[in-house]
Amino acid sequence: MKVAVLGAAGGIGQALALLLKLNLPKGSDLALYDIAPVTPGVAADISHIPTGVKATGFAGEDPTPALEGADVVLISAGVARKPGMDRSDLFNINAGIIRNLVGKCAQVCPTACIGVITNPVNTTVAIAAEVLKNAGVYDKRRLFGVTTLDVIRSETFIAEAKGLQTDEVKINVIGGHSGVTILPLLSQVEDVTFTDEEVTSLTHRIQNAGTEVVEAKAGGGSATLSMAQAACRFGTALVRGLQGEQGVVECAYVEGDGEHSRFFAQPVLLGKEGVAEVQSYGELSAFEKQAVADMMDTLIGDITKGEEFVNA
Ligand code: NAD
Ligand code: LMR
Repeated sequence: MKVAVLGAAGGIGQALALLLKLNLPKGSDLALYDIAPVTPGVAADISHIPTGVKATGFAGEDPTPALEGADVVLISAGVARKPGMDRSDLFNINAGIIRNLVGKCAQVCPTACIGVITNPVNTTVAIAAEVLKNAGVYDKRRLFGVTTLDVIRSETFIAEAKGLQTDEVKINVIGGHSGVTILPLLSQVEDVTFTDEEVTSLTHRIQNAGTEVVEAKAGGGSATLSMAQAACRFGTALVRGLQGEQGVVECAYVEGDGEHSRFFAQPVLLGKEGVAEVQSYGELSAFEKQAVADMMDTLIGDITKGEEFVNA
């Protein structure tokens, strides 16, 4: 397997490169690309760690050498939030970056599975889909918005609130990746019950966890280390599915049956072609049904903005 990271010199990219060097299966190739000239140095640095993963770094305007033969492309290239900004404020810069990088993927590795980390994810995934579609290579089984950070945050906060081990908590987080579009399905967490007050406060904390980090970093960026762990969990799950492992399921923002919106985060069974099955997220509580209804205008607006950006 070859995994490419685009944006590999950034806060997420460097930590993700380290985690992939440690966690990809032996024999994998790890290609690091960023416009920043330090990128070959990042690859040289991690290449001294004794694992069976071969790291190579590329800098400059052209990602082609990193993308050649890639099975998985994880994209964290772009700008991050500062205090006072919403994720949608990143659109003006990041939309063009995603359009150009995914355009290169369409040319160089048209069958790769692409995981988009760059915000605003609700919109950048729609941009990626339209670019791939216009290039004639779109396969909805191979495009993912990476929403795993919402899942690992939920696991952590629930374990803290209920005095559990984090590996005892399993939860699906559905919808999208911003504010009210992030919906943790607390009603389905096994062997745990929450009061109405706990549901309201935990949901709010999970929805605002990104802002919590942005404010704590006080102008120094947004979540990078927890995001790298989340992207490593998602990226290695994708690789395990591509290699034929059965029963690999993660939540991701994908194009499903369009019941709610063209793209929607929900549990996905991963397989040899990427998405093997977009799974049902099960019965919702009254609170969760209302939350889904309340998020739809925002989510559909975010998706339309991405589609129009490419096709205008
Ligand atoms: P960062 O500024 O530390 O790193 C971004 C990197 O992208 C930089 O190294 C920069 O040189 C590179 N870059 C910019 N334009 C590029 C291009 N055209 N080609 C290749 N590389 C390019 O930012 P970060 O903290 O790593 O965050 C990156 C993105 O991830 C942001 O948009 C942020 O909002 C997003 N993010 C998403 C999630 C999520 O849950 N999906 C979580 C955290 C952050
Ligand atoms: C997060 O959830 O931490 C990321 O989407 C970054 C951000 O801007 O909040």
